[in-house]
Amino acid sequence: MQESNKPDLDDSLNVTESHDRMLREAAAVSREKHVDEGGREPVSLWIFASCAVIFIFAGLALGNIGSLGSLFDYDQTVKPGYVRLDLSEDGAQGPPPAEALAVYIKKGQKIYSSKCQGCHGGDGKGGPAYPSLAGSEWALGETQRFSMIILGGLMGPSSSGKDYGVMPSQKAGMTAVDLAGVMTYVRNSFGNEAGDVITEEMAAHALKLAEERSDPNQPLSKDELDEKYLAPLEGEPLDPTMMIDPVSLQPVEGAAG
Ligand code: HEC
Repeated sequence: MQESNKPDLDDSLNVTESHDRMLREAAAVSREKHVDEGGREPVSLWIFASCAVIFIFAGLALGNIGSLGSLFDYDQTVKPGYVRLDLSEDGAQGPPPAEALAVYIKKGQKIYSSKCQGCHGGDGKGGPAYPSLAGSEWALGETQRFSMIILGGLMGPSSSGKDYGVMPSQKAGMTAVDLAGVMTYVRNSFGNEAGDVITEEMAAHALKLAEERSDPNQPLSKDELDEKYLAPLEGEPLDPTMMIDPVSLQPVEGAAG
């Protein structure tokens, strides 16, 4: 038996057919090349082109046309009357100076709302279990007595003679500025009109007096107050209308009230 190397007729027919199939497949592959896996089609060039055109026109409109153009104009978008902050060393500035009484009251209001309001009320009128600070002789009278009530607390009768129980010491975390502020606030709120400023210096004196007590956190009695603290706190009085810096509390030169 001899093996023939020649393709027979069947074979040659098959060759033609498979050649056709190859061409068809190649055409299909080249069509499908444009479709990504996951079915995403690449973005057509014309979309890029039209976006570019839109952006160019939008840019021109914002930059040039009438009121739209002023969107990016600093002088037109900043309200009149506002000035740029001068951040150079000489011009470094915090909040503007204000009258001493107002500055201390503002500081004190924050302390009052966090430390006193829960008991004495937002209006200072107290309630069934707490005495009113409006018109209170011990808030408005001698400043040593008032300061010692805040720092040490109070037990026994209040100024009205009524005994409300015990007010605990409010000394924890209280700085001289806090104490000065809250005293000034109470003495000038709720209808109280002492009109004076309890300064940081005076409050520092109060903190010193409190530390000198054998137990600084022991609430004071009326007797202890009457015996030791019927005096003004020491310190230079401050003109309530003096313009001071709200941060440093120092008088501001050349800015008379
Ligand atoms: C936990 C409740 C409580 C807090 C907080 C509190 N107090 Fe009092 N305070 C009292 C009570 C109760 C009395 C009355 C005590 C008594 O009758 O012995 C009182 C009394 C006083 C008095 C005396 C009033 C008078 O005329 O007899 C003053 C002044 C006062 N408090 C100021 C303050 C200030 C200022 C703060 C905040 C720094 C403060 N208190 C925080 C409960 C409180």
